[in-house]
Amino acid sequence: MEAIIRGVRGSIANPAPDTAFYGGNTACVELRADSGALLFFDAGTGLREAGDNLPGRGECHIFISHGHADHIMGLWFFKPIHSPDWIIHLHLPDWLAHLPDHFHEAGFFPVPFTMLGGSVLRYPVRSGETVSIGEGRGKVSVEAFSVRHPGGGLGYKVRADNALFVYSGDHEIDGTAEARAEAESFLRGADIAVVDAMYGREDYAPGWGHSAWEDWVEAAARAGTRNLALSHHEPRRSDRELDALDYRLRSIVSGQLNVYAAREGMRFAPSGLVPFTRFGSDWLLLFLEEIARYRDINAVLDRILAKAREITHADAGTIFLAEDGDLVFAYTHNDSLFPVDNAYKYAYATVRMPISKQSIAGYVALAKDSLNLADVRRLPPEAPYGFNSGFDESTGYRTVSMLTLPFFDKAGQVSGILQLINSLDPRSGKPCPFTASMEFNARLLAREVSSALEHSVLERKGIYGILRMAEVHDPYETGPHAERVGSIAAELYQRWAEKQRGTPDRERIRYEKNRIRLAAMLHDIGKVGISDLILKKPGKLTDKEFSVMRGHAEIGASILAGDASDLSGLSRDIALHHHQKWNGRGYPAVEGKTPEGEAIPLGARITAIADVFDALVSQRCYKNPWSFADALDLLRKEAGEHFDPVLAECMLELRDMLPLIYERFPDTPQREDSEGAET
Ligand code: C2E
Ligand code: SIN
Ligand code: SIN
Ligand code: FE
Ligand code: FE
Repeated sequence: MEAIIRGVRGSIANPAPDTAFYGGNTACVELRADSGALLFFDAGTGLREAGDNLPGRGECHIFISHGHADHIMGLWFFKPIHSPDWIIHLHLPDWLAHLPDHFHEAGFFPVPFTMLGGSVLRYPVRSGETVSIGEGRGKVSVEAFSVRHPGGGLGYKVRADNALFVYSGDHEIDGTAEARAEAESFLRGADIAVVDAMYGREDYAPGWGHSAWEDWVEAAARAGTRNLALSHHEPRRSDRELDALDYRLRSIVSGQLNVYAAREGMRFAPSGLVPFTRFGSDWLLLFLEEIARYRDINAVLDRILAKAREITHADAGTIFLAEDGDLVFAYTHNDSLFPVDNAYKYAYATVRMPISKQSIAGYVALAKDSLNLADVRRLPPEAPYGFNSGFDESTGYRTVSMLTLPFFDKAGQVSGILQLINSLDPRSGKPCPFTASMEFNARLLAREVSSALEHSVLERKGIYGILRMAEVHDPYETGPHAERVGSIAAELYQRWAEKQRGTPDRERIRYEKNRIRLAAMLHDIGKVGISDLILKKPGKLTDKEFSVMRGHAEIGASILAGDASDLSGLSRDIALHHHQKWNGRGYPAVEGKTPEGEAIPLGARITAIADVFDALVSQRCYKNPWSFADALDLLRKEAGEHFDPVLAECMLELRDMLPLIYERFPDTPQREDSEGAET
């Protein structure tokens, strides 16, 4: 079964600029059973939109909870009700059997209900009664129960497809033990429940017939409910207020319970929320599918920024991630300053600023709201923030319009900032202000990608955790070393891939780049199995010690062989073969032989270069750092011997970027102590 939220407001519809995201229609939920049976619960104004999306003929059931206008207004505007090719079964609480006729008699609607053209069959429903639709395996049964509401009201429990859906129209949990027990019993075992949470405890109005959301959450937690959608929002609740509520709800963890602030267009399967978007086309859904494939944070940031710029025509943009009270410059694009193939230069830029009201990004992080500036040089005099023109001055770029918005994590904390610069007029190419709809779409994007962003940050933290385990042995070599080897390997791969014959498949390159970075970071994980006496020996290793040391390649491969993710083959290949040489004189031997040339997996040939370069220019317990020039000289000399000559050439071409990577991931103790969110 699938439940679709069609109307989320109580009392009166309120379609307004600050309610558009959650929706302004009054109460209606659509339920589709696997058998194809189509049911609606309440007929508020949300029913109209649902009707517009239905085919020209069909059959459906509408269950009404009570007769207040916000629960029935949509009936007259439901397309099928005007169509002779539809059969509509209208289930009305028994005391309301004549309600639609009164509407006409009282002059609320010009045409009598019976003359609208559709085939409407009316049925009275009483509390305790069960209506059955269909039979056999596809049978849907709808049980009515009475709810606490002045003037009466019915709720409904629907059993179909081995799942339970509960709709509790207007319903007041008034704080008595009895009311709480009732709510719990309605919700018991529900896979999907949609309830009236017009208020929170702070604005709860006793006797008005509606509940505070906290009471539903408590009842649902006790009742083993899986998905609870709080609906029937107070009509004035703005998107911002509902967002704040939703963020709070998402951090509630109780058994299998997930709680959401209902939003029009939201779809629930018994297993949980189905990804969806209400606005425009499917661009956002398609985009969410696309980024779900990436695990590496750099790739995720790159895609988010590209999409944000596409939908706002922004010439440039930056993403900052929040880290220990600072905003850390994480990723940037700028078409005017760096055309695509030069973009890497700023992919590794290092900027860290405190979260404070003085900067625009800091202000947005504190205000937790977007800021749309038409011209950064004409700020309102009372604005606490100021435009930092340092970047413009050092590059000659001219920032005019700027749209800045926050990303939130599950706990509702600001996890990052998206800053878009200079929306370009498609005709003149001149910067102009970001429009309200661009702002809206960008907010939508920032909101919907926040969990993908959070996942990729956690993924990176997980890798840092694994590395830290190895770091117990070799504190010099892990976090930043792994980041640098990962970054060099990723950029080498991109360089190499773009040189291959034919048109480059950018999406594939991006995906492989994302895997290579993560897999290369793990290349030396096998050092965890090598004794400190060898690993930390200040001088040269004896032959015997070195033969133990070589074992790290196989140990690493055996650790990573158990990884079932999409990295597994690659990370294992890299750990096993990163000390192979192009001329066949590397290690370890596999079935008595060491591979050479292209028999060595590409990822391992790439990582060999990145790893040796980093070992040469870094401090080790057994050696002092070399200069970049000396290290590159060695690579040049060893091209065709130790290293794949084509890849060695690619490495020389990355010369300008290398210092940026070292600045970004330096070998300092603070860096190693700080958590792994840096990217
Ligand atoms: P590592 O320190 O990460 O070094 C990785 C690779 O960089 C080395 O692989 C080697 O190919 C290259 N490399 C590092 N330092 C130099 C250098 O000074 N000159 C040249 N030409 N190449 C260098 P390799 O040799 O298979 O060593 C694997 C690991 O064994 C090293 O990883 C390190 O952890 C350890 N190791 C190697 N030699 C010594 C040593 O003399 N003393 C100690 N304590 N450990 C060593
Ligand atoms: C990255 O992995 O650095 C971003 C992805 C890309 O450059 O395509
Ligand atoms: C809005 O709040 O105006 C729409 C998008 C959002 O919820 O962030
Ligand atoms: Fe209502
Ligand atoms: Fe190694």
